[in-house]
Amino acid sequence: MEKNDIKTSQKSLGLFDLIGIGIGAIIGTGILVLTGIVAAQDAGPAVVLSFIIAALASGLIGLCYAELTTSLPNSGSAFYYTWVSLGSFFAFLAGWTLIGVYVTTTATVANGWTGYFGSFLSELHINLPHNLMATPDSGGLMNLPAVIMVLLISFILTRGTSESKLVNNTLVAVKLVIIMLFLIVSVRDINVANFHPFMPYGISGVFTGASTVFFSFLGFDALATSAEDAKNVNRNLPLAIVISLSVSTLLYVLVGIFMTGVLHYKKLDVSEAMSTVLLSEGHVLVAQIVSFGAVLGIMAVVFAFIYAGSNIIKSMSRSQFLPAGLSKINQKTYSPNRAIWLVGILSAVLAGEFNLHYLALISNVGSLVVFLVISGIVIIMRKRYPLLKRPFLVPGGAVVPTLSVLICAFLLFNISVDAWLTYLAWLVIGVIVYLLYGRNHLDVEESQNQKF
Ligand code: ALA
Repeated sequence: MEKNDIKTSQKSLGLFDLIGIGIGAIIGTGILVLTGIVAAQDAGPAVVLSFIIAALASGLIGLCYAELTTSLPNSGSAFYYTWVSLGSFFAFLAGWTLIGVYVTTTATVANGWTGYFGSFLSELHINLPHNLMATPDSGGLMNLPAVIMVLLISFILTRGTSESKLVNNTLVAVKLVIIMLFLIVSVRDINVANFHPFMPYGISGVFTGASTVFFSFLGFDALATSAEDAKNVNRNLPLAIVISLSVSTLLYVLVGIFMTGVLHYKKLDVSEAMSTVLLSEGHVLVAQIVSFGAVLGIMAVVFAFIYAGSNIIKSMSRSQFLPAGLSKINQKTYSPNRAIWLVGILSAVLAGEFNLHYLALISNVGSLVVFLVISGIVIIMRKRYPLLKRPFLVPGGAVVPTLSVLICAFLLFNISVDAWLTYLAWLVIGVIVYLLYGRNHLDVEESQNQKF
């Protein structure tokens, strides 16, 4: 079976490392940036409920992922599972969707990073011109820091620098420390009056908020692709998915309560909500530390998603769904540099020119579609390949995958039409690429034989 990871292929990841990878990819722009925006625009203080709904959805999907990834360990992830179960056309669309998801997720995360970067600089009394810090919809020319940061991280990836366990675990610690610091410092500033009205936009606002903050949980799927490197995979991987989602949920709920408790939700419509909340109470030094930690921590998420996106392109290209040149590996660095630059440049352009909220929604539509398909595939695979070895089997028969399909469908229903149309346009381009390229190059029968 094809092995696409840049990392070592030894089974070197223990439970602690897997939790580190999960939290490293999960905690980022979602909690640091979107919490404030969603509280202000969609849910008010009830953003906490939005987080709980999104966490429930992620938990169900995470279990489905754990079953597939332990029975079919391959870094092509959803692209590969779809190929095995639904054939090459749907596999192409799943892979194409994933590429779009990883590009828009990278762009969203980078876009949000600029808020903390700018806030960190201005706390040092360095102010860059607004034109170069903001996307056109916010009255700027482009979000230049985000563009430069994405290109820089792409460059680092092309040097073959893979995210070592130590670097990743350190950055995870930085993220956890700044969140804990925020919680400890803000607890005394909570004013319960700010919780009224709790649900200013009604229950529909809570669900719309859930569809947006779902973004905060993306990354557990990246964890699922580590199956090939995990020790005692059938115990550790499901456990790591559940623990990293539980830790993230707990922190998200607390941050949601504290942010909306300290500052009225209407004042949270900024991309650096955590430092804004701290500054509003005069905690200047802590705000500086948090901004600096966020700048480092969010870069790790960008790293993880460009890496994941290039892995999918490489996997699709090796399977002849995309031009062979895209999986070319650099002989010195062993990195798929063309695939990395493709993801990096597309992400940089989107991060520079498009609004964060809109990018996050597109990323969510694509992810939820893939997750819905994945959950359905769990049921299909059990019927079609009942004897396949399943080191981890989601308990309770078809209950969890069915609930997972339903909750994905429900969240998809709550995402704006604009985001849906953008995703559909991306799919149409995908179908054209498939008809013009993939279909002609793919030897379906031979490819099917390669799978088991
Ligand atoms: N879950 C990741 C984040 O919030 C994508 O940054």
